[in-house]
Amino acid sequence: MVTISVIKADIGGWVGHSGVHPDLLEAAREVMEKGRKQGVLLDYHVAYCGDDVNLIMTHTRGNEDPEVHGLAWEAFQKATEVAKSLKLYGAGQDLLVDAFSGNVRGMGPGVAEMTIEERKSEPIIVFMGDKTSPGAWNLPLFRIFADPFNTAGLVIAPSLHKGFRFEIHDIQESKRIFLDAPEEMYDILAFIGAPERYNIKAVYSRATGEIAAVSSTERLSLVAGRYVGKDDPVMIVRCQSQFPAVGEVLEPFTFPHLVPGWMRGSHMGPIMPVSLEQARTARFDGPPRVVALGFQISDGRLIGPVDMFDNPAFDEARRMANQVADYMRRHGPFEPHRLPLEEMEYTTLPDILKRLASRMEDLDGRTATTEEALRAMPEMDVD
Ligand code: F6R
Ligand code: MG
Ligand code: MG
Repeated sequence: MVTISVIKADIGGWVGHSGVHPDLLEAAREVMEKGRKQGVLLDYHVAYCGDDVNLIMTHTRGNEDPEVHGLAWEAFQKATEVAKSLKLYGAGQDLLVDAFSGNVRGMGPGVAEMTIEERKSEPIIVFMGDKTSPGAWNLPLFRIFADPFNTAGLVIAPSLHKGFRFEIHDIQESKRIFLDAPEEMYDILAFIGAPERYNIKAVYSRATGEIAAVSSTERLSLVAGRYVGKDDPVMIVRCQSQFPAVGEVLEPFTFPHLVPGWMRGSHMGPIMPVSLEQARTARFDGPPRVVALGFQISDGRLIGPVDMFDNPAFDEARRMANQVADYMRRHGPFEPHRLPLEEMEYTTLPDILKRLASRMEDLDGRTATTEEALRAMPEMDVD
């Protein structure tokens, strides 16, 4: 069995929240190399998207292994020291606690892991998002594993025809449900069409029971109880044979669907598929973006990466994303470009309400109390 662990964190931006300084990647690589030499890791690749560092690791220690998570934590800490010495922006922002206690889950970093029986040939794609949240994967995962208009294999390949099982998490209530496509497709959509609440955590082959895809569902704002940066997501997808083909896995990203995130984690915008070279955010701190790195796994070694969106086939998606970005930006501070009140990462509204409470009147002219004025704002953090 081989475990693929992708652990990511924003530990400081260069410049602002736009990109990663190469010295951070180098610091992380040194720790990864130490882990490989000590035999904790079989292989690793240090990647990035926007202002996030992504550690892609292989090993035989299973999911949630304290040594592997400890190594990732150490890599982020070492890189944070470098970020601090360069006064990079938000140095160490995703490392929410001072001491590591066996597992990075709930400590700030995002995690996607799968343990697999390596096939005769094992192609995988690691997707890394920036300026958005894990719900951004709901639409592409549905299209890859349940939509016959995207994945021809669901109809015409005997190995895919039985469909896939979706593990959906309610991230507010910490509950999960397993639903099968195609029979329960409408039930699946009823949940995952609300991606801020329900995230697809994993997908399994119904023919073999094997894991097909896994995503990170950490939500930094829920973990930290306050805004500490958008929980930019990662996911791992297995391809070919009993799973959708590489081209079927990439196909949904030709449509730059709207996702929450972007400027101040408080705006809807199109997710743009980009190459590593284009992974730096720019316009209005975005738009939200996704990088796809392809690997063949060979006895746990990562043969790659191949930069899958570095291809003219995604030029039209990028162009469409720019057009949608123009259109959305013209709404300025209005919904649905700006997120609804409960979903914004930043807000001044409680302060404004407090300041203007004495001027808030009933429609018959009676002045409301501060408490009444605040109660009028649902689910806002009013401290
Ligand atoms: C969004 C993001 C950025 C920042 C923005 C303001 O996920 O990281 O858009 O929210 O640049 O950042 P601060 O408040 O750190 O100046
Ligand atoms: Mg940042
Ligand atoms: Mg980021």
